[in-house]
Amino acid sequence: MNLPHSVTIVEVGPRDGLQNEAHFVPTEHKIELIHRLSETGLKRIEITSFVHPRAIPQLQDSEEIVKRIERKAGIIYSTLVPNEKGLERALAARVEEIALFVSASETHNQRNVRMSISDSLRGFRNVTEKALTHGIRMRGYVVTAFGCPYEGRINPEKVESIVDEYKSLGVHEIALGDTTGMANPVQVSRMVSRIRRRLEKTGLALHFHDTRGVALANILAALQEGVTVFDGSIGGLGGCPYAPGASGNVATEDLVNMLEEMGIGTGIDLKRLISCAKYARTIIQKDLPSHLLSGGTICWEGEGNLMEKRERRFVKDRRSGGDRRKFDDPHYDS
Ligand code: COA
Ligand code: ZN
Repeated sequence: MNLPHSVTIVEVGPRDGLQNEAHFVPTEHKIELIHRLSETGLKRIEITSFVHPRAIPQLQDSEEIVKRIERKAGIIYSTLVPNEKGLERALAARVEEIALFVSASETHNQRNVRMSISDSLRGFRNVTEKALTHGIRMRGYVVTAFGCPYEGRINPEKVESIVDEYKSLGVHEIALGDTTGMANPVQVSRMVSRIRRRLEKTGLALHFHDTRGVALANILAALQEGVTVFDGSIGGLGGCPYAPGASGNVATEDLVNMLEEMGIGTGIDLKRLISCAKYARTIIQKDLPSHLLSGGTICWEGEGNLMEKRERRFVKDRRSGGDRRKFDDPHYDS
């Protein structure tokens, strides 16, 4: 297999994941999640959005989030920005990277930002010019790049034209988003080889939602095409499992597990990441779709060894007056 030696993961859970949660997550919990994620080895975290608070009420505390987080050296904390007003807010909060977004589907863009695609792109001219003069890095998302819940198939030429526009605006990276998990690995290979030809120095990242369980397969296809930047959401946070078309990104820990097991470096501590996923589950007060949260990390020393460890934990726990049943709970964290 033709695979890269290392991959960069962009954690989008605090933004893309939380934005779909109906119940407001207290600001201090969001901040704590970002702090914990910052201790895992992740180098890029998308932390919130400067969109209209009525559009995404969950992220109405974005100013406070950016102001109050302790930024760890070596990590890039970015925020989503839809327009000039969003950029002004981002500048006032002194963020170092913004992520712009436009849909490849006219209908989806209208519903998302109440503008046509060309109006979004026209608006980005002022935004990018100003951002560049302030030395801010810019990512450009192409949302619904692989399919749209309203329009169905998306013409790849539409994606190409948005990519060209982003390139001329000076973004450092383009992120193709499979917003409602419609992509398949063959389509991903074709799209990546098409888009990469046009990119030159601009980076390419892929952003897969796991709505239909195909995200990791899509990532494998993209790895073989040489893509080395992927988004993940802690715990698979995002969307509602009962609403078709709206579910989370691939769980970051599932992605890191697969990559590390394949010998592809991520620089991320998987155990710490799993504790972050447990924390995310606590703060949204419901279960998350992550596989690693229930399956745990692979124990290559064998089951016997695992049993022995459980036994040791049991003895320790019984001494402290604990209950054996705890060990049958895969979520039990010693
Ligand atoms: N942040 C806060 N307020 C904003 C804003 C922003 N980024 N952009 C515009 N506004 C304000 C304007 O100042 C104006 O306020 P006023 O009524 O007090 O004068 C009001 O919103 C209307 O401005 P308008 O430009 O007409 O915006 P709109 O109502 O058409 O909404 C967006 C456009 C883009 C701001 C809104 O649709 C949005 O935030 N969408 C984001 C959706 C999203 O995050 N989706 C998930 C990510 S893929
Ligand atoms: Zn997304």
